[in-house]
Amino acid sequence: MFKDRVVVVTGAASGIGKQTATEFARQAAQVVVADIDERRGAAVVADMRNDGLDAVFVRTDLTSEADCAHLIATATATATFGRLDVLVNNAGIEISTPLHEMSEQEWDRLVDTNLKSMFLCSKHALRHMVGATNGVIVNVCSVSGLVAWPGIAAYNATKGGVMMLTKSLAVDYAPYNIRANCVCPSIIDTPMTDTSIGNDASVKEAKAKLNPIGRLGTPEDVANAILFLASEKSSFITGAALTVDGGYTAI
Ligand SMILES: NC(=O)c1ccc[n+]([C@@H]2O[C@H](COP(=O)([O-])OP(=O)(O)OC[C@H]3O[C@@H](n4cnc5c(N)ncnc54)[C@H](O)[C@@H]3O)[C@@H](O)[C@H]2O)c1
Repeated sequence: MFKDRVVVVTGAASGIGKQTATEFARQAAQVVVADIDERRGAAVVADMRNDGLDAVFVRTDLTSEADCAHLIATATATATFGRLDVLVNNAGIEISTPLHEMSEQEWDRLVDTNLKSMFLCSKHALRHMVGATNGVIVNVCSVSGLVAWPGIAAYNATKGGVMMLTKSLAVDYAPYNIRANCVCPSIIDTPMTDTSIGNDASVKEAKAKLNPIGRLGTPEDVANAILFLASEKSSFITGAALTVDGGYTAI
């Protein structure tokens, strides 16, 4: 479905990003895996290449404008893939310090990783997409961009920002035939979740019950939604927030 399409996925060394990058490549895209974790990012690309898929790794600290510019420049360089069709802004972190105890440094780290990174990558990607008069951006938001998940106020605030950044991108760049949408997952079974709620089966089971569907989401669930929003099948959809939450926000 994505033959001759070049896709950049951030935070693709793990979890949702890794699954998304792999699925794009399985559907014939040329994929740029971006992550700050050089060891795991390179391993993801090695696995993809072993399976005959087309991917490169670019070590990127997404909180740095120089790194984000380098990422997009590498993807669009003729020596790499020479163009950019899809940007998936996926990387994010969770810090669950209560707001009244949170340091300024923690707040800044969350905002820089979860929100500023999406501005920086979008900014540099748009410079190519506007010239090419097409492109798609998919941002990984969260149900916490829609409703306040208890105990993670700062994280919720960053995802609220992602939501409005997505809508603004959609409105401002529609004239250039550039679409922007976001996905809003509830709890997905990834390394981030293992860190935030632990790997205890009974805790996961309790969290799963928060979703009417009765299970946690998988990285595949989210990757499928991202690929749909990046595909021509969603060509009339822009500025949307697609919940991938087992019904969590329907209650
Ligand atoms: N896991 C969940 O339950 C869940 C739910 C809703 C939304 N999300 C969102 O999904 C996205 C992916 O989460 P995940 O669960 O796959 O997490 P994860 O921890 O498995 O993967 C995140 C990746 O981002 C990378 N990263 C972090 N900071 C970076 C930086 N400064 N520069 C470059 N890379 C950086 C990490 O190295 C890691 O590979 C995040 O935006 C997260 O907020 C996750």
